Amino acid sequence: MANEIVLTREEIQEAVQSIADKLNERFKKQKSIPVFIGVLKGAMPFFQDLVKKCNFDMKLDYIQVSSYSGTSTTGVIHLLKDVSEDLNGKEVFIVEDIIDTGLTLSYLKQYLKVKYNPKSVTLISLIDKKPLRKVDLTVDYAGVSMIENKFLCGYGLDYKEMARNTDYIFVPTKAQLAKRDKLLEEKKD
Ligand code: IMP
Ligand code: MG
Repeated sequence: MANEIVLTREEIQEAVQSIADKLNERFKKQKSIPVFIGVLKGAMPFFQDLVKKCNFDMKLDYIQVSSYSGTSTTGVIHLLKDVSEDLNGKEVFIVEDIIDTGLTLSYLKQYLKVKYNPKSVTLISLIDKKPLRKVDLTVDYAGVSMIENKFLCGYGLDYKEMARNTDYIFVPTKAQLAKRDKLLEEKKD
């Protein structure tokens, strides 16, 4: 069975452009330099596309957390890499690939607020997956809303660190997941 394409390359780029348009409008009369923070690793394709469509000055930074294991979240968030910019008093934008339970973004927002005392923290996510939301969290800029609970791959989204490197987003078939499990098994030899 072929995999189901949920967002084509064109649909993704349209969603990215529409977020960039709003940000460009917001920073039309720019008076300060915001810091855009990409959440490693999944948000990288989105982050790179988004910042290239923004026409105002910004600083870029990265943070890394982990919470997912295979096809579901563990609910326990680990900070793997912290930011390096000084965020004190800055407008901070967290750029994430997908929001699911909301635990990751709510943890990151709180963590950055408490540790660095930024002026504001704004949340951007390419996909807003709604069914499994556990915390009451508003995504300020969302590209695409999803009402179905589907496990997605591609354009940064991974299955066990694989399947990130496509320019479209898809629902992997059982056979595709099994193939990747097999590759991982072979690696162990
Ligand atoms: P949350 O903490 O449950 O909101 O999950 C957010 C994180 O889980 C995202 O940054 C992704 O890394 C990962 N995630 C959530 N849904 C998916 C999915 O459908 N495919 C791959 N990763 C996902
Ligand atoms: Mg992520």
